[in-house]
Amino acid sequence: MKGYFSESRSVEAVNERMSEETDPRLEEIMGKLVTHIHAFVKQVNLTEAEWMAGIEFLTRTGRICSDERQEFILLSDTLGLSMLVDAISNRRPDGATENTVFGPFHVKGAPEYEMGKNISLDGKGESCLFEGTIKDLQGAPIEGAELDVWSDNADGYYDVQQPDVQPKWNNRGRFITGPDGCYSFRGIKPVSYPIPSDGPVGQMLTALGRHPYRPAHMHLMVTREGFQTIVSHSFVEGDPYLADDTVFGVKQSLVASFERTPDAEGDTVWRSRFDIVMARLGEDTNVDLRSAAADEK
Ligand code: BEZ
Ligand code: FE
Repeated sequence: MKGYFSESRSVEAVNERMSEETDPRLEEIMGKLVTHIHAFVKQVNLTEAEWMAGIEFLTRTGRICSDERQEFILLSDTLGLSMLVDAISNRRPDGATENTVFGPFHVKGAPEYEMGKNISLDGKGESCLFEGTIKDLQGAPIEGAELDVWSDNADGYYDVQQPDVQPKWNNRGRFITGPDGCYSFRGIKPVSYPIPSDGPVGQMLTALGRHPYRPAHMHLMVTREGFQTIVSHSFVEGDPYLADDTVFGVKQSLVASFERTPDAEGDTVWRSRFDIVMARLGEDTNVDLRSAAADEK
């Protein structure tokens, strides 16, 4: 027989129940989860009422989830967990474009357009020319890279949030690079917007005195066989929320320039340049921060 449960040996009491046959990775993950969650409860002296409030919060979070809404991911995003898992999973060499949070508004199969196409279909917002290059770490242009982009409209909503208001595929498109590795398309200068905040995550943010806003950004996903897929954004420089994105997605290297310049027709438009650098599969930094995390306890 293994030991009884007590406050002092709570972790051992739970973890020693795992069998010899338990998958080693599952044993590591569940063992550490129990270790940390018990330490947390002891550290804050969690009361029964607080434990029940937590259970009710998670229950409400689950109940509001649907095919269209994933409140648990939103919770993970706002607690910085999504960005942490993303950082660990996408350690890239210096010079490669960094990842950031994927978000819930990507739609597979956006229309594929010729370079230069305007992806803004609702005629709202400030026109903006997006351009740049897609290169490898050695500086060679990458031909055949697919750039999938999506952004909100001038009112701060993605087309999928307003299917009865916005044209389908508004502010979305896919572009394939030619031999020069260059891309260009027209859209609108994105605007900052609040994440869905009418559910438990919004209540949590309010209780913590946090706002639900994300700084304006253009989402991008870049894929090419033999290269690490990039899931990222370019952020609008000067946005007031850059320093406190509610999902912690901002990285300095992802802030893009936005300048007012005349276009070919002589109209003044925004112009944003964002160069993308892809790392090949296997071109990793392999900096493993696990031991540092263990020391932090
Ligand atoms: C977004 O940028 O689309 C997003 C990211 C995380 C949570 C909600 C929205
Ligand atoms: Fe977004």
